[in-house]
Amino acid sequence: MNDLNILSSSLEKIKAYILANSDTSTKILDYQTPSALSKVIPFDIAQKGVSENEFLDLLDKYLEYSVKTGNKQFLNQLYAGFNLPAFIGEVFSVLTNTSMYTYEVAPVATCIETEMIRLMNSYTGYTKGDGIFLSGGSNANLIAMFSARNRLLPDSRIEGYNCNEKLKAFVNENAHYSFGTAANLLGIGTKNLVKVKADNEGRMLPAALEKAIRQAIDQGEKPFFVAATCATTMMGAYDPIDAIADVTEKYGLWLHADGAFGGSLLLSEKHRHLMQGIERSDSFTWDPHKLMNIPLICSALLVKKAGTLQKNITDINTDYIYHDIDEMDDLGKKSIQCGRRVDAVKLWFAWKYFGLEGYRDRIDNLINMAEYVEEIVKSHPQLRLHSKRQSFAVCFQYIPKKKTNVNDFNLAVREALRKTGKSNVNFGYNGSDLVIRFVAANADLNKADIDRFFTYFISEAQKLENA
Ligand SMILES: Cc1ncc(COP(=O)(O)O)c(C=O)c1O
Repeated sequence: MNDLNILSSSLEKIKAYILANSDTSTKILDYQTPSALSKVIPFDIAQKGVSENEFLDLLDKYLEYSVKTGNKQFLNQLYAGFNLPAFIGEVFSVLTNTSMYTYEVAPVATCIETEMIRLMNSYTGYTKGDGIFLSGGSNANLIAMFSARNRLLPDSRIEGYNCNEKLKAFVNENAHYSFGTAANLLGIGTKNLVKVKADNEGRMLPAALEKAIRQAIDQGEKPFFVAATCATTMMGAYDPIDAIADVTEKYGLWLHADGAFGGSLLLSEKHRHLMQGIERSDSFTWDPHKLMNIPLICSALLVKKAGTLQKNITDINTDYIYHDIDEMDDLGKKSIQCGRRVDAVKLWFAWKYFGLEGYRDRIDNLINMAEYVEEIVKSHPQLRLHSKRQSFAVCFQYIPKKKTNVNDFNLAVREALRKTGKSNVNFGYNGSDLVIRFVAANADLNKADIDRFFTYFISEAQKLENA
């Protein structure tokens, strides 16, 4: 096998793939069942390696049957799009294959990550803040809860957590499931994660939060952590941070803000008021791999107080790796990972490329597109807006003319649409209603892309209605 031949053929394939992303006739998926897929791709590893042609063929097949998430009809997840400068940054990060633990191994990437954390903290208003890139929003939420636990019970780092302490954490009833995982992993227990009631638009009710905290105290339990969500996963709802901070400050609790999905709204001067009070939080999860369209994974946990992470995670020096010989701190000391991917560099390249204004405009465009979706839904006689739109997500249902189960009907439409490979949108439940969730996540979306989505969606709905 000639490695250079493989490299140049691969680069050609990458170029063709990127060009196809903007071709509206490209399907986002050639749907195959798992058994059909294993007939076209030999997944097993044989004793002898493959030939050059077989290797190149495998590359083609991988691309052919994977979902084209860079296609603008990929509307399924909270991440979407193909951000070229970030993609190039990712390739260069992999090319250098450095690990983020020490300045010695990753001098440039260490400076870049430090600068990204500083810049992101300038948006949260953490003037003496710190932070770390980690392996996703779920893990950022875990480390936030971990930090809160260790602030209250510093000895638990050494002694272990004593569950007789009866710690209690509080989240929006619509909060991401990662808080349950965090409560489980930290030994707090999922039953001690209180799901606080939200209003009709999905926002946590501060009065209900305070009532739940008081109730826990009356029962001899110890509230320690509250998470406000900055854009809930389904409805895109923003919890009222200022009002929640009034409660957490009154009871001396750690306030975390989960902006994994909607944290990037901070970049918009026009819309960031939805996160008013963010500077009062103690920690903040922000996933640039979602609305900033950075390739997965790119996620950060920001903390208000410098020193928090190192104190809570590892202030034990390990002299075989951390030699303290450079002028810059080794970032690995703040992380629960040892080897750590270089995830800040692709963000830096993208931010350099678009500039602060460019990113502001990209986030504003996402809100404009979500508004446009809302208008279409409101004006179509058979589409029903399920809940008032707050940000990037629009939840709706198609109401068929004939009497039928609306949940089953919408599920069938979305399934039929997915199998066409023309567009891919997700669904979920708001209460007992199954709703279609349109998320404006790809900042390159325009009105024509949205019109195209509704043409496809309504056509599948009408086919089913007339069947
Ligand atoms: C509100 C919220 N928090 C946390 C997460 C988890 O983020 P990640 O997928 O990066 O682990 C998500 C993911 O959708 C989310 O919507």
